[in-house]
Amino acid sequence: MPSLNRRDALRLLALTLVDLGVPGCPGAFAAENAGVPDETRRWWKEAVVYPIYPRSFMDSNGDGIGDLPGIVSRLDYIATLGVDVVWLCPHYPSLNVDNGYDVSDYRAVMPAFGTMADFDCLVSGLQTRGLRLIVDLVVNHTSDRHPWFESSRRSRDDPYRDYYIWRDGIDDGPPNNYPSLFGGPAWRRDDVTGQYYLHLFAPEQPDLNWANPKVRAEVHGIMRLWLDRGVSGFRLDAISFISKQPGLPNLTPDELHDPTRVYAAGPLRDAYLQEMSREVLSRYDTMTVGEAGGVCLTSARQMTDSSRHELDMVFTFALIGLERDGAEAASLLPRIKSIVAERDAAAGANAWVASYLANHDQPRSVSHFGDPDPAWRAASAKVLATLLLTQRATAFVYQGEELGMSNYPFTSIDQIEDVRAKWEWREKVGSGAVPADVEMERLRRTSRDNARTPMQWTSGPNAGFTTGTPWLPVNPNASVVNAADQAVNGDSVLAFYRRLIALRKRHPVLVYGAYSDIDPDHPTVFAYTRSLSASRCLVLMNFSRAPVAFRLPVGLTAVETLLSSLPDEGLSGTGKVVLAGWQSLVLSIAAAG
Ligand code: NOJ
Ligand code: CA
Repeated sequence: MPSLNRRDALRLLALTLVDLGVPGCPGAFAAENAGVPDETRRWWKEAVVYPIYPRSFMDSNGDGIGDLPGIVSRLDYIATLGVDVVWLCPHYPSLNVDNGYDVSDYRAVMPAFGTMADFDCLVSGLQTRGLRLIVDLVVNHTSDRHPWFESSRRSRDDPYRDYYIWRDGIDDGPPNNYPSLFGGPAWRRDDVTGQYYLHLFAPEQPDLNWANPKVRAEVHGIMRLWLDRGVSGFRLDAISFISKQPGLPNLTPDELHDPTRVYAAGPLRDAYLQEMSREVLSRYDTMTVGEAGGVCLTSARQMTDSSRHELDMVFTFALIGLERDGAEAASLLPRIKSIVAERDAAAGANAWVASYLANHDQPRSVSHFGDPDPAWRAASAKVLATLLLTQRATAFVYQGEELGMSNYPFTSIDQIEDVRAKWEWREKVGSGAVPADVEMERLRRTSRDNARTPMQWTSGPNAGFTTGTPWLPVNPNASVVNAADQAVNGDSVLAFYRRLIALRKRHPVLVYGAYSDIDPDHPTVFAYTRSLSASRCLVLMNFSRAPVAFRLPVGLTAVETLLSSLPDEGLSGTGKVVLAGWQSLVLSIAAAG
């Protein structure tokens, strides 16, 4: 048994304190847990996670690019929000074709973001405040400039050849009809050997060959390196795609409509995850959240079933994938309700899911699901916060969502940096298939860059993000949507997030309680109960501008307003709750009789 270094000793101490239930210790359980069976409680179920896109969070040196010292300078802000875990999007050296998701060295820090010492400082700064860090593990693919790939492409018998997926072409074309998820074919011919390599994303992101045990051993080594540096787990990028279909047959016309279903259904996916758990994760106190594109709920349930030892939770895509197309927010409500109910049911007793309404790949949640009109932006952002943080799932609050940041008013493709949007533009507009204004309107609604514009800290120049020129433009609404103003305004979206996160911490029923939609057919109100032993809550959310008097079902009495998104607390006599436009309420309830 090796002797304990300082980090291991600290981890052991933290584990002991957690076991003792010491409050304020990272991972300590919520105080009142009546009714939660001990064997199902986990610190990562009770955690609220704050994803950070480092390039856009805070720039410390005026080069216009966010960095690790910038994040360190904002740790008090993050801690005051009440979150427990920070998920850091990729921080490794990268050619930045896909902003860090094309990794060229898994064992170092991107120079533009800082140094390893800055990384250690981030870990310890979080630990001091009782928070944990998880990092992005991007191992479905590497950068084409990773030394493994540079070696692999040199010759057909290079020792690294089998780290990637090389095939001969067929009739002067690629080996099969797989499309890349960013546009164009998923194969690129390499002149050096005349073979094609597989890339499910951009050509600069060749897919690793997980069938090669050496690749898997490399991944395990990378994981240990970061865990030993003090991280508490991983968000596993594109993890559903790591096992490829035997023989790589062509997709059928039907499968071509959604290739992710096939890409995600490789026969060894679960075996690779179980091996990862056995070799690495089981030896640490971690949380893992897998990006599970193309995975149906049944598989998601399997992948997170605690008895199978694969992942702790996954991001599923049904909710985030809803297309609004400029319609009224309430038009999405029937589908939101059924997806939330199905997702909750899938989690069941042994599995777990993630609750998220935005991330760095999606439009801003208030623009996607709420009402971004300045008159309704804050109110609707609070309703969405309520939805996000009252699920039986670990909640992810994406940077800036706690301020109600909204989409950027893009007017030209020249303002857009995202590799996927540029591919799509070339394919659609470049080929003449789609008029430029139609595609621009779509990108304004859906572009990933909406989530990547700089964090809005102040109403000053560049929203306080940088003293230089920001790598993406700052949203002009920073003058009215920013952290400094909201921090001193008790009615702000930020203040509401702080109250709501604190409420979730105080009431385990909001984490573990059974979910029941009490009015699935209501056209504008989302109403559900959460129940855990004697503790019961009712969550009411009005998804429209019109006020509504909501009738409580017979036998259900609202006892107390635990949290209202507006000063008016809504309770009006027995049997009825009046909700203003875009108001949410969390009520404690009692069954009558
Ligand atoms: C999912 C990541 O979230 C996204 O940003 C990236 O482009 C792809 N995976 C490829 O790594
Ligand atoms: Ca910088």
